[in-house]
Order: sequence, then C-alpha cells, then structure tokens
Amino acid sequence: MAAPPLALCAPRPAPRVALRPLRLLALLALCLPVWADCPCREPALCLPIRHRPDFEVFVFDVGQKTWKSYDWSQITTVAAFGKYDSELMCYAHSKGARVVLKGDVPLKDIIDPSFRASWIAQKLHLVKTQYMDGINIDIEQEVNCSSPEYDALTALVKETTESFHHEIEGSQVTFDVAWSPKNIDGRCYNYTGIADACDFLFVMSYDEQSQLWSECIAAANAPYNQTLSGYSDYIKMGISPKKLVMGIPWYGYDYPCLNLSEDHVCTIAKVPFRGAPCSDAAGRQVPYKTIMKQINSSVSGSQWNKAQQAPYYNYKDPAGHFHQVWYDNPQSISLKAAYIQNYGLRGIGMWNANCLDYSGDAIAKQQTEEMWEVLKPKL
Ligand SMILES: *[C@@H]1O[C@H](CO)[C@@H](O)[C@H](O)[C@H]1NC(C)=O
Ligand SMILES: *[C@@H]1O[C@H](CO)[C@@H](O)[C@H](O)[C@H]1NC(C)=O
Ligand SMILES: *[C@@H]1O[C@H](CO)[C@@H](O)[C@H](O)[C@H]1NC(C)=O
Ligand SMILES: *[C@@H]1O[C@H](CO)[C@@H](O)[C@H](O)[C@H]1NC(C)=O
Ligand SMILES: *[C@@H]1O[C@H](CO)[C@@H](O)[C@H](O)[C@H]1NC(C)=O
Repeated sequence: MAAPPLALCAPRPAPRVALRPLRLLALLALCLPVWADCPCREPALCLPIRHRPDFEVFVFDVGQKTWKSYDWSQITTVAAFGKYDSELMCYAHSKGARVVLKGDVPLKDIIDPSFRASWIAQKLHLVKTQYMDGINIDIEQEVNCSSPEYDALTALVKETTESFHHEIEGSQVTFDVAWSPKNIDGRCYNYTGIADACDFLFVMSYDEQSQLWSECIAAANAPYNQTLSGYSDYIKMGISPKKLVMGIPWYGYDYPCLNLSEDHVCTIAKVPFRGAPCSDAAGRQVPYKTIMKQINSSVSGSQWNKAQQAPYYNYKDPAGHFHQVWYDNPQSISLKAAYIQNYGLRGIGMWNANCLDYSGDAIAKQQTEEMWEVLKPKL
C-alpha cells in the first residue's frame, strides 16, 4: 500500500472544511512518525526532491565530512556510499540535490521473485526512514548471457523503479554500467532493458584496463578513444543519450614496472581477471590528491600520452623500483566531457568526490577547483 505523500504533512493553511476529529487523528498518526524525527533544522528539508535538473552532476561520496567542501552549486545527486549521514542529507536537500542509497545484492538470490520483492521493500523502507531520494544500483557481478540471472537483473531494476516511483514522488533509480556494453568483466547484462527500466545509467568510464588481452603494459585508466567508443556503442544499441551520465575517475593507477623502457613502456605483472591474462589489478588505485603531491618529485614529471590523451609519470620508490602512474586531470577530463554536449548526454559524475584535496592549502585549493570546474557544460 502506498504511504501518504509527505506533502500532506507540510505546514499549510487550515483546511476550510474542518476535518472530523477521527480523520484528523488518523492523519496525524500517519504524519508524526515521519516528522517527529526529521533531523534537519527545518522539517521541510526532509521532503524528497522532486525537481528534475536539465543537467545531472552525479557525485559518489564515500563518507566522512569532505562533502562540506564540494561545489554544491553544481551537484544534483549524491550517491551516499559511505555511512549514512543525516547532516549530508539535510544539506543536500537545502541545495536542491538528491541523496540516494547504494543498492547491491548477490545475483543468485534475485532469481527468486519473492526475494526481489523483499529486497526492494527493505531498501524502500531505508530510503524513506532516512529521507533519501532514491537508489543507485551498483551490481558489478559477472552474469552469463543465458543464465537466469540475466533476466532477473532486468526484472530487479524494473521492479525497483516501479516501487520507488510509486512510493516516493520524484524519486530516482539509477544503475551503474561498465565503460562499454560489450560484456566487460563478464557482465552480460540486458543493457537496453535496464536502461528502459530505470531513470538513467551511470557509465563507469574508468578501470578500462580491467581486462588486458594483448600486451601486459601500464595504460590510461580511461583512454580517450576507448571511452568514447563505449558511449557510441551504448547509443548504437538504441539507448537514448539522455539515459547516459558520463562517469569520470578522480583517481588513477600506480603500476610497479617489471621493466621501464626508455620510451616509457612499463611492463606489468600478469594478474588475470575474469578470463583475461592481465589487468589493472597489477596496479593500485590512487586518489588525485595523492597523485598531485607526488608528481613534482617524480623522475619524469607529468607526461602526456597523445594516443590515449592522458597524463602519466614515472617515479622510483624507496626500494629503487620504477612505477608508472596514469591518471586524469582537467585536460584529459575536459576532452572527454566535450562528448557530453556534442552527443546530448544527460550529465557527468565521478568516482569519487572524496579524492580531491580539500585541505585548503593554496596550491591544492586551485587544483581542486579546476577539477570541479571542468564538470560544467561548456556553452
Ligand atoms: C559463467 O560461465 C563461466 C564459463 O562457463 C563460468 O566459469 C562462470 O563461473 C560462470 N559465472 C557465473 C556467475 O555463473
Ligand atoms: C531486454 O529486456 C526487455 C525488457 O524486459 C525485453 O523486452 C528484451 O527482450 C530483453 N532483451 C534481450 C536481448 O534479452
Ligand atoms: C627493459 O628496459 C631497458 C631499459 O630501457 C631496455 O633496454 C630493455 O630492452 C627492456 N627489456 C625488455 C625485456 O623490454
Ligand atoms: C609542482 O610544480 C609546478 C610547476 O613548477 C608548480 O606549479 C606546482 O605548484 C607544484 N606542485 C606542488 C604540489 O608543489
Ligand atoms: C582514435 O580515434 C581517431 C578517430 O577515429 C583515430 O584517428 C585515431 O587513430 C585513434 N587513436 C588511437 C590511439 O586509437
């Protein structure tokens, strides 16, 4: 059964026709549990956001209080992947931004329709009691094309969206997909079915070296051509660009080199992943703030790879071993982000907003501002 719309409970002029006492009591009983424990300074801040922005800026937050330093003039949605923080929810709502829950579930469980229904009910309850605005479904599990999980996943997304839209007006249900629809990391999903079934897809245009089939060498986290070919493939299969939000990385990869050649080719250890002989798992993810602190002491300084349109540098660790670090900066991000306007994508977002330096140090402050600045659509 649908809960009464929260707006019923919002302060409003006295009704012209007096409610009969019993009816009034019933209404209060329904409203009080919702309003009595709203943690925000104004109860209205507990209302879900209904406004639909023209351009999405979809931010992943992984916890703590760095969100206080984000550029809230741009943010439209925060996917709260850290511990629930009611202060973040109140603040986001005061800025008109949505806060959505993380949704993940073992896929073998969701083959059972009744399991799906109870999972959805549980997430919906959590979202309502925490005054959130929707859910971001982040299933990155392997699915074989002819397995029962294939259709069950599409059904999960469809049923989640139906429940959420029905129960919370204006709520948002989104789904995270790999950089390409070509069964990356063994994820054979019904991408068109899933896109139809939710509000939009967040395309994770990063970790694009998760499966290296030929040379085992360090490469960009999100090379320009590879990234754009992924969007073109999603669009070619019939998914509207308005259903796609471009996800960019605010982190890079630090690869220990088995050998670093004079022309900067860094050979990496063979770490297989889902059938591929080598992967980015040979490296370690590093946040942009760490990278920016390290560049000046590196042996190469910042270099630009033209073929991949991405920056990298080489450094020597205390044991004397060479490493190569590939990352994204305002230059590489703005090249990719130009595609958003050219093809009419719905917006942009990043994994994750916590990766920048919010310490307030003068150099860091400027670098951080530049990273937020390139998210803005160019006129
Ligand atoms: C998918 O199929 C492969 C090869 O048949 C198998 O190794 C793998 O375990 C399967 N994965 C899942 C999630 O069922
Ligand atoms: C994908 O899902 C939609 C909606 O459930 C369905 O109509 C379509 O046949 C599915 N496509 C494939 C290739 O399974
Ligand atoms: C390793 O790097 C050195 C120095 O650049 C180079 O001379 C050598 O050919 C490389 N070895 C291999 C196996 O690539
Ligand atoms: C690194 O060097 C560049 C160029 O000299 C300089 O602009 C930048 O401020 C330095 N960064 C740090 C963190 O010191
Ligand atoms: C990237 O794509 C452009 C245009 O299709 C092409 O000319 C270029 O060779 C590609 N670069 C690489 C490194 O694949």
